[in-house]
Amino acid sequence: MLLRIAIDGPAGAGKSTVARLVAEKLGYTYIDTGAMYRALTLAALERGVDLQDPDALAQTLHAMGLEIRPGAAGNQVFIFGRDVTAKIRSPEVSEHVSLVSSHAKVRSAVVEMQQKMAKEDNVVMDGRDIGTVVMPDADLKIYLDASVEARAERRRLELARKGFHTPLEELMTKMRQRDEFDSTREVSPLRQAEDAIVIDTTNLSVREAVDLILDYCRGRGARV
Ligand code: DC
Repeated sequence: MLLRIAIDGPAGAGKSTVARLVAEKLGYTYIDTGAMYRALTLAALERGVDLQDPDALAQTLHAMGLEIRPGAAGNQVFIFGRDVTAKIRSPEVSEHVSLVSSHAKVRSAVVEMQQKMAKEDNVVMDGRDIGTVVMPDADLKIYLDASVEARAERRRLELARKGFHTPLEELMTKMRQRDEFDSTREVSPLRQAEDAIVIDTTNLSVREAVDLILDYCRGRGARV
């Protein structure tokens, strides 16, 4: 049985950690779609590509040979044959990725790749438009949300683990800006699918969120 699970929500709601663990429990492939936009942003920044130019970005996307390899610690991301898993999380990439992912031409090319991945496998895919655009017919749609404070604090801890130290206030401001940009862009804005189940993770542990989603998966016929 091919079960496809979509997990959407704003930055820092816990999507990637939760989605990765749900996939691990189910034995499914986890696909972090934000990593794909991040990889393109990194490639464009490195090559001096104009981030306002959708054609140049689409060309970069096709040239960079994006590879997403599912692994125990999350997805490993390769471009031009190089492992850029850590680099795509840098503050510089985070700052520019909203702009890159706002172009219709870029999105349709990336969505096409994602739809191909979803067709071949049992997947848990996380992002912003998975339940609405990439897999509108997903078997289970989850919308993960949390307060700005909680999301900024999680991002702060995540960055600190990677050696980037950023004050909470600054992260809250950036988080609000990114939310605003991601949810008001013209193409595939961040929004909840009508048939999505909303889970607020502000006061939930990762484990509680994962268990809740696994219950829904069982309800959809998954064996776990
Ligand atoms: O989840 P993330 O922070 O790694 O996502 C990075 C950016 O990519 C985010 O600003 C929104 C964008 N994104 C998107 O537009 N659509 C997706 N499916 C995933 C991410």
